[in-house]
Amino acid sequence: MMDTAQTNPVAIVTGGESGIGRACAIALGKSGTAIALTYFRDAKAAETVVGEIAATGGRAIAVQADVGREDAVEALFAQTEAAFGTVTRLVNSAGLNMSGTMIGDMTLDQFDRVVRSDLYGPFLTCRRFVRGLGASGTGRIVNISSIHERAPRAGGVDYDSAKGGLAQLTATLALELAPQRIAVNGVAPGMILTPMNQSAIDDAAELARKEAAIPWGRAGTADEVATLVQFLLSDAADYITGTTVTIDGALSLTVAQGA
Ligand SMILES: NC(=O)c1ccc[n+]([C@@H]2O[C@H](COP(=O)([O-])OP(=O)(O)OC[C@H]3O[C@@H](n4cnc5c(N)ncnc54)[C@H](O)[C@@H]3O)[C@@H](O)[C@H]2O)c1
Repeated sequence: MMDTAQTNPVAIVTGGESGIGRACAIALGKSGTAIALTYFRDAKAAETVVGEIAATGGRAIAVQADVGREDAVEALFAQTEAAFGTVTRLVNSAGLNMSGTMIGDMTLDQFDRVVRSDLYGPFLTCRRFVRGLGASGTGRIVNISSIHERAPRAGGVDYDSAKGGLAQLTATLALELAPQRIAVNGVAPGMILTPMNQSAIDDAAELARKEAAIPWGRAGTADEVATLVQFLLSDAADYITGTTVTIDGALSLTVAQGA
């Protein structure tokens, strides 16, 4: 799917060293978008993604960044602009899963850790993206949320609060930025087989049990999410903004069944 919205699109993909971010970086990089992908700790994994994009003739760099830190986000954009020019596409995929701790036992540090990566991160990158475009630049943003932006899980007050906030960040920015033709959408995956679900990948019984709860009968793949993200970033999605697209095999529709 070629991005025709501009001749030389430039994208930042956070969390690009792993899972959904990795798949997005590769899909976009292979179709002509210059990519700056961020990594948190795994420089080697990030360089592998860069190599995979370069092998197809694409352009990519890997930048270490903690997206929850203002100075790191500033440095990420500065480095990307120096390499490729103005950033016109943004995919916020970096994030941590829930701690699994009930509120009575949750420390402020635990809560802060997830909210910083999953909500402050997109706030900081979206803000810098808009500033970088200036008053006349147009662009497109996709925030990777989760079906847990709406469906709560006990033990997920950190994650569910962050993703719920992200849904409103997405909608609010879409309204603010529509006059400038900056589109902002969310993608809410269900169960996707990435390192975030490593225990199910490693344990066939756990995977079978979890997949049995998904009406579509299987978990999703990072490539399937990347295909959707690529569409939302493309010219063909021009009139779509302010919405979150669920990709979950109908998992999120199973709440309140059987009671
Ligand atoms: N896998 C799923 O089933 C699933 C379901 C719903 C939503 N999501 C969301 O999709 C996104 C990607 O998750 P994934 O499945 O690819 O998991 P993943 O663990 O493979 O990738 C997440 C990446 O984010 C990075 N990261 C975490 N905190 C960071 C920070 N503060 N700064 C920079 N990088 C940071 C991690 O290092 C990792 O590379 C996340 O936002 C996650 O909440 C995933």
